[in-house]
Amino acid sequence: MPVISFASPKGGVGKSTSALILASGLAHAGASVTVIDGDPNRTLFNWSRNADATVFQCSELPSDNEILDAIEETATRSQFVIVDLEGTANLAMSRAISRTDLVVIPLQASPVDARQASRAIKLVVDEGRALRRTIPYRMLFTRVNPAIATRDEREIRAQFRNAQIAAFGVALNDRAAFRAMFTHYRSLWDLSDEATGVDKARQNAAAFVAEVTQEIRNQQKAQEKAS
Ligand SMILES: Nc1ncnc2c1ncn2[C@@H]1O[C@H](COP(=O)(O)OP(=O)(O)O)[C@@H](O)[C@H]1O
Ligand SMILES: [Mg+2]
Repeated sequence: MPVISFASPKGGVGKSTSALILASGLAHAGASVTVIDGDPNRTLFNWSRNADATVFQCSELPSDNEILDAIEETATRSQFVIVDLEGTANLAMSRAISRTDLVVIPLQASPVDARQASRAIKLVVDEGRALRRTIPYRMLFTRVNPAIATRDEREIRAQFRNAQIAAFGVALNDRAAFRAMFTHYRSLWDLSDEATGVDKARQNAAAFVAEVTQEIRNQQKAQEKAS
C-alpha cells in the first residue's frame, strides 16, 4: 500500500506536524495507517505513545539496516504507511525514499527554506536516478498565513512552476490548533476547546488529505495504464 515520506534536509520546516496531520486525517477518514518514525527525536512515536486514543500504529526508529524491512513489512498490512524522517540527509532518508510512492517536501515560504528544499529535491531525484525510476515528490508550503498569500510565497510558487517543480495546491496554515496537537497529544479531531480555530484547521487538514489521496489515485491509474 502507498508509502508517503516526509523529507527535508532542514529541521523545523513542519515535517512531523504535516505527517501527523496526514496520518490522523487519513485515520479519521477510516483508513488503516502506520507511521514509521525515522527521526531520532521520536516526535511522532512519543506523540502516539502519549495519546489517549490509538489514532494509528507507530513504530519506533528503525536502524538504517531495518528501515527497508520496516517499510515493506508495514506496507503489507496498512492502507497507508507514513514515514517521518530526520532533518538531515542520511542513509535512512535515502533508503526510505527508495521505497516511497510520494515524497512530501515541506517548506516555509521563505527564500532560505526554498533553497534548502532544492537540496531535498536533488536527493529525491538522485535516488531515482540510482534506481532508474522516477520517485514522485511534491512540495508542501507549511505555516502559511491563512489570510493572505505573502509575496515570498507567490514568488517561490512561480519559481517552482517555471522549474516544473510540483507543489501541492493546498498549503498548511500557521494555526495554534496544529501546535496544540502536540501540547495535548490529541489529533485535530480529538481536540475541542484546547485551541482556537480547530474547525478551520480541520478543514485545512481535510483539503490536504484529499489532495494527497487524489495524487496517489492518479499515480495508481498511471501505473495501471502502463502495465
Ligand atoms: N502548520 C503549522 N502551524 C503552526 N505551527 C506549526 C505548523 N507546522 C509546524 N509548526 C511548528 O513549527 C515547529 C517545527 O515543526 P515540526 O513539524 O516539528 O518540524 P520538523 O519535523 O520539520 O522539524 C514546531 O514548533 C511546530 O509546532
Ligand atoms: Mg520532525
